[in-house]
Amino acid sequence: MTKVNWTPEKVERVIELIMSGFTYSKIAEILSKELKTQVTTNMVERLVYRKGLRRIIKKEDKDSEMKYFHPPRLPMDDYLIICDVHAPYYSEKWVNRAGIISHLLDVNKIIIVGDLFDMHFISKYYSEYRPEMGEEIEWTEPFMDWLDQFDFIFLIQGNHERRAGIFSDGRIQARFFLRIFGNLVMKNKFKFTNYDSLEIGEDWLLTHAKDYSRIPTRMATRLASKYHRNLINAHGHFFGMTYDVSGKFLCIDLGGLFDISKIEYINLRTTSYPFWKSGFGVLKNGFIYLFHDGTDWDFWLSLYKGGKYAKGTRKKTKKDGKKKISGRQGKTRQVCLRHPQENRLEASP
Ligand SMILES: [Fe+2]
Repeated sequence: MTKVNWTPEKVERVIELIMSGFTYSKIAEILSKELKTQVTTNMVERLVYRKGLRRIIKKEDKDSEMKYFHPPRLPMDDYLIICDVHAPYYSEKWVNRAGIISHLLDVNKIIIVGDLFDMHFISKYYSEYRPEMGEEIEWTEPFMDWLDQFDFIFLIQGNHERRAGIFSDGRIQARFFLRIFGNLVMKNKFKFTNYDSLEIGEDWLLTHAKDYSRIPTRMATRLASKYHRNLINAHGHFFGMTYDVSGKFLCIDLGGLFDISKIEYINLRTTSYPFWKSGFGVLKNGFIYLFHDGTDWDFWLSLYKGGKYAKGTRKKTKKDGKKKISGRQGKTRQVCLRHPQENRLEASP
């Protein structure tokens, strides 16, 4: 076996690798490549001893069940992004709007940024109209049926999904909800994370943050500045968009698909909190399209009516004189907000 001449530079490199958190064996592997000679684990270990360096802390046993936490990340792609459905207390109008818009934009993957299920039947708060579990499941069925149209469904855990764990002292976990509320067919295309956040590519972060502000976009702005990402936040039930102080990151409160008139506590009790606002978004080609009370729905409908930008174009059939949808023509118009990455390329004023 070739000996290694441990020059001060090489020892320095070993210390650098130790400080980067590598094990003896990993350091040996790295040095073997760098020095183009075989460096064994034992050689590194002996060097550390001879130089009187502190021993490297051992990694825990490979079979250890200790959990390492890595928030999930989805690849950059096109997604319909909704939140705060609070099923079964959802708004049919807003659910259908999200359905039609995602169809027009040809988006078949959906992300729900928490609070898909309300779980009112196990809420720890006092309720005058608490439903039975069976009722809540039954009333949620139409939404699950609607959801089944998508090819890919990702649910981020919201505080309402967490209610089951709180209620059952951790015995009922939210990841099984789709089996309870939906059906097993959906199991294969349904993904769930018990994190309250999800990254999309390197630029976007979706959160159902624990804390709350009564000022719309305040939470999203703080989180965008903290995580240096375009931020879409749920939980607040407000809608709004701004940029963070750097001007680089979008800070979005996404609203939700809830129906206020079905939710007990905000109707039975009066607070000075701002009114909730519905909304949702579509991420397409790296651009965010936002839909809210101020959206010109007629404009979006015209994309379909005209057929020019619609997903399918209509053709007459001889049989019934009706038009039939087939094929895709044209492209959807880019009437969206500019992506901040684009802004960075613009010349300064
Ligand atoms: Fe919510």
